[in-house]
Amino acid sequence: MTLLKIARMGHPVLLRRADAVTDPTGPDIARLVADMIETMEDAGGVGLAAPQVHRSCRVFVYRVPDTRSSGAPDDQPCGPQVLINPHLTPIGKETVLRLEGCLSIPGLRGWVPRHTRVAYHGYDAQGRQVKGTASGFLANVMQHEYDHLNGILYPMRMNDLAKMGFDTEMARYGEEQA
Ligand code: NI
Repeated sequence: MTLLKIARMGHPVLLRRADAVTDPTGPDIARLVADMIETMEDAGGVGLAAPQVHRSCRVFVYRVPDTRSSGAPDDQPCGPQVLINPHLTPIGKETVLRLEGCLSIPGLRGWVPRHTRVAYHGYDAQGRQVKGTASGFLANVMQHEYDHLNGILYPMRMNDLAKMGFDTEMARYGEEQA
């Protein structure tokens, strides 16, 4: 496996709509997924989308750490998962502000309005269909990673850029800004 170089905000690959994967079971996708998981874990991230590693295809990986799970049945802690050619649909109209960071925007965080719950479906690297609903942190990470596949970075979703700041400052003052 290989650690991949992460594209940072300003690189055009992050603003493109990524292409669908023709064969989720192909060996190139298996290698990409393994490398993305290794890269995400090395960087201490909770999600990573293929465009972030300069591959403009519809693949993302994610995990739900114990410390981030809300405990809801559709927000359970899990190790690295993959979703290929995913589709996300909001459930209901309710939104919530979530504090997000991004490996492509190192050192910064911001409060982003997100749907409270989403339904998702897609494929895993064995070509099996994966589907379910997500709430809490899982809903948050899926919306963030899905946006990457459509060329959207979290600041583009923010409705108030005053709610963005550096990690250290947000850790100190960020809760007051929600
Ligand atoms: Ni990101």
